[in-house]
Amino acid sequence: MLVERKGRENEWLTMVLEVNYKLKRFKPSDLEGVIRINRECLPENYTTLFFMNLYKRFPETFIVAEVNGEIVGYVMCRIETGIPSFKLLGITKRGHVISIAVLPNHQQKGIGYALMREATQAMVNYKAKECYLEVRESNLPAVGLYKKLGFEIARTARNYYADREDAFVMARQLPLYGVNNKYP
Ligand SMILES: CC(C)(COP(=O)(O)OP(=O)(O)OC[C@H]1O[C@@H](n2cnc3c(N)ncnc32)[C@H](O)[C@@H]1OP(=O)(O)O)[C@@H](O)C(=O)NCCC(=O)NCCS
Repeated sequence: MLVERKGRENEWLTMVLEVNYKLKRFKPSDLEGVIRINRECLPENYTTLFFMNLYKRFPETFIVAEVNGEIVGYVMCRIETGIPSFKLLGITKRGHVISIAVLPNHQQKGIGYALMREATQAMVNYKAKECYLEVRESNLPAVGLYKKLGFEIARTARNYYADREDAFVMARQLPLYGVNNKYP
């Protein structure tokens, strides 16, 4: 287990919003739960092979959130080599958030934020210098989440999605491994 904590514990609405969740690295027995969340929450769905391939290649950045033994959220990422969005660092390692989702009845309790924090910390361990992702322009909850985590809009990718909606490409620099390898 990576983390066990209470969401929103200091707020006056604690009694309503309190949630105990655990963050863990994905394991193959979590696959069914992850696929269910992906299908319920997002139009971008993937094959079993795609999920398992990301898990095998980048196990540290595939994290699940569990509440009372049920998988309620996940984030999965890929480590790539490419040109960063903001700084001219030359070719560098970048963490790419491929998919994140939290079941509707567990949303707005801090789980998405915690999943992203854990995944970006793992990217630092892979020595990635930047994290980036694509998000639908209309997806205000997700854009809000990424802004809260320090992401900025780097550019717009026109007709990025199958239904031709544009995507914001959002990115943020990651702390250097070995210098300040704790995500701020
Ligand atoms: C985006 C998503 C993962 C956020 O997960 P979550 O657990 O609800 O998010 P959190 O509770 O950690 O919220 C963190 C921040 O995100 C933003 N946010 C989350 N839900 C929001 C909403 N409904 N409206 C506006 N902002 C929202 C806020 O900035 C929030 O911080 P705050 O509580 O201090 O205001 C979740 O809404 C989801 O699964 N959506 C469907 C799938 C999806 O769109 N994935 C992203 C694809 S790019």
